[in-house]
Amino acid sequence: MSKIWIPGSSGMLGKAFYKELSGRHEIICTDSNIDISDTYRVIEWVKSQKPEYIINCAAYTNVDGAEMDVERAWRANANGPMNIAIAAGMVGAVPVHFSTDYVFDGLKPISEDYHEEDKTNPLNHYGYSKAQGEKRFCSLSDDCFVVRTSWLFDSGGKNFLTTMLRLMSTLPELKVINDQLGRPTYAPDLASMVSELISDTFPGGVVHISNSGVASWYDFARFIHDAAIDLGLLKDRVNIIPVSTEEYGETKATRPKNSILNLNRVEKHLSAPIPSWKDAVHRCLVQILKESKQ
Ligand SMILES: NC(=O)c1ccc[n+]([C@@H]2O[C@H](COP(=O)([O-])OP(=O)(O)OC[C@H]3O[C@@H](n4cnc5c(N)ncnc54)[C@H](OP(=O)(O)O)[C@@H]3O)[C@@H](O)[C@H]2O)c1
Repeated sequence: MSKIWIPGSSGMLGKAFYKELSGRHEIICTDSNIDISDTYRVIEWVKSQKPEYIINCAAYTNVDGAEMDVERAWRANANGPMNIAIAAGMVGAVPVHFSTDYVFDGLKPISEDYHEEDKTNPLNHYGYSKAQGEKRFCSLSDDCFVVRTSWLFDSGGKNFLTTMLRLMSTLPELKVINDQLGRPTYAPDLASMVSELISDTFPGGVVHISNSGVASWYDFARFIHDAAIDLGLLKDRVNIIPVSTEEYGETKATRPKNSILNLNRVEKHLSAPIPSWKDAVHRCLVQILKESKQ
């Protein structure tokens, strides 16, 4: 049994890690009560708790919001991981940090994907702050254990899947972008894969982890819709219209067209094949159905 601190434990990924690890490990959960951008507070906290691992799930994740609240995004996403790496080093803890596909500009042709060592070149402030966080974290942490993931979803909270289900149950028609491609990732699958790496002899460094398979937001929405109809989670069919980014209209943050993370590195370290995003969406919808009956 190890002692593990999860900053950001009430966020989507934090909750998934809590479910994955509690029972087998001693888990310390914190949220905004321990502000990771406050160097002194983080150091004092880590010195008092002496965790063996720190799984940093805390971040400012509002991609459009970061265009206006640049400072808040930078505090959490650039300073936060730096503080965690400093504090971890003081007590000999292993820190694990999460980053994003949005550190890339997405200009590669869609037949190609993004490798860990590819040059980062973010298109928006969220991506800039996360790219800076990776750099600061790695300059201070011996192992530089940074997991880049993409398009996270789960059965609860606000994410693309739950938003789609809500809109599909209230609107007859939906427009969804079909020219941004990426890999949807089920938060419990990510937590499980990262836990396997931590308990194994993974050497660290930057690693891309998501579910397998590629989708556009439209493909993702279409599959959610069809599976939800099959499971009886949605009563009426909705007209889902594929649109280009330009047709969809302006958003505050520009997003990469190609967000496809290459998974070769993580695949070499896992004992089982990575589940596809379609399989993961199906399991997530079954979970929602189960929770709705409780
Ligand atoms: N969501 C995605 O699609 C996605 C995609 C790629 C990568 N990621 C990365 O995956 C990680 C987890 O994302 P997530 O979707 O689980 O995020 P989330 O649901 O937004 O949760 C983030 C948590 O961090 C907390 N937090 C924010 N600023 C903090 C601070 N300064 N100090 C302490 N806690 C703070 C938030 O608390 P409040 O709610 O009180 O602010 C929230 O509980 C992040 O590193 C994110 O960049 C996410």
